[in-house]
Amino acid sequence: MNKMNFKNTISPQIEKNGLVLIAFAMVILYWVIDSLASGLLFTRILIVSFVIIYGFFTQTLINTRKAALEEKEKSQQQLIQSESLAAIGQLVAGIAHELNNPLSSTASLIQSDIELINEIKDKRDIDHEILADLRFSLREMNRAETIVKSVLGLSRQTQTYAENVNINKILDDALRVLHNQYSSSNIEIVKDFDENLPEINGNFANLGQVFINVIKNALQALPDDKGFIYLKTRYNKETNCIEIECRDTGEGIPNEIIKDIFKPFFTTKDVGKGSGLGLYISHEIIKKHGGLISVSSNKGKGSTFVIALPARGERKDD
Ligand SMILES: Nc1ncnc2c1ncn2[C@@H]1O[C@H](COP(=O)(O)OP(=O)(O)O)[C@@H](O)[C@H]1O
Ligand SMILES: [Mg+2]
Repeated sequence: MNKMNFKNTISPQIEKNGLVLIAFAMVILYWVIDSLASGLLFTRILIVSFVIIYGFFTQTLINTRKAALEEKEKSQQQLIQSESLAAIGQLVAGIAHELNNPLSSTASLIQSDIELINEIKDKRDIDHEILADLRFSLREMNRAETIVKSVLGLSRQTQTYAENVNINKILDDALRVLHNQYSSSNIEIVKDFDENLPEINGNFANLGQVFINVIKNALQALPDDKGFIYLKTRYNKETNCIEIECRDTGEGIPNEIIKDIFKPFFTTKDVGKGSGLGLYISHEIIKKHGGLISVSSNKGKGSTFVIALPARGERKDD
């Protein structure tokens, strides 16, 4: 009763392809028999081979030219992109330069206004809201100044000179600068420095800025002002690089934003706490030193930043 209909089990596509194949085989068979009968088999095979080889070479040539054109187009696009990035960089540096003076003078005027108001003996007539607004404006001005200075600093880095520097010393200096930010908290900074680190050829001030940025981020990531920051320096003989590791036990970085943290102006912090330039500038500085900065993080457990910088020579005890 349930008889299978064989024809229905073959798909129409396979059926169509099968018919085309049979037709093609019949044409070839006719052609071979005809060629044999007329004694032209060898000549015809020669002609067909020639056509096939010619077609093959033409196709290869076309493919190669297409690939070359695509490659050229891609590199042109990259060039345009890097040129426009450089142009944006120049534009931003130009704007930063122009903004620097008006910002400084406005900030110092507001500062002296605040001081003048504070000197007034009879404080009853002072509108305290105006004073609070002025203080707020001054804070915002200072923030704008910091951003402008960072951008200016970055655009000037091409002109900075390099010297032989000791990374442990730069890290100690960075900790000294940040001392006020953690001395009265429950944060512990644990140092594990390799005392025989080879020197590196770099810019003391710029590298100091990198370590300040990275350690400051670690401090800001510690909830309730408590936790640990482990600072480690070591020499990697295989890569001839000095590695600086900064590990914190802070909030960690969510996976979905980790790819963005080195982008300019990317921040998750409140206005006034972060500008989103710290890691971008650090990345640029490390790149200019021929090094690498990388990050790994575990949400809720902490983050580790590793900076690798090419060493000048072999370490002293090797
Ligand atoms: N140690 C860290 N722990 C957690 N998040 C971090 C850490 N370092 C950087 N980040 C994240 O990367 C973002 C960008 O950092 P940064 O460029 O220094 O800018 P900013 O500190 O001004 O926000 C921060 O807003 C923060 O979300
Ligand atoms: Mg920062």
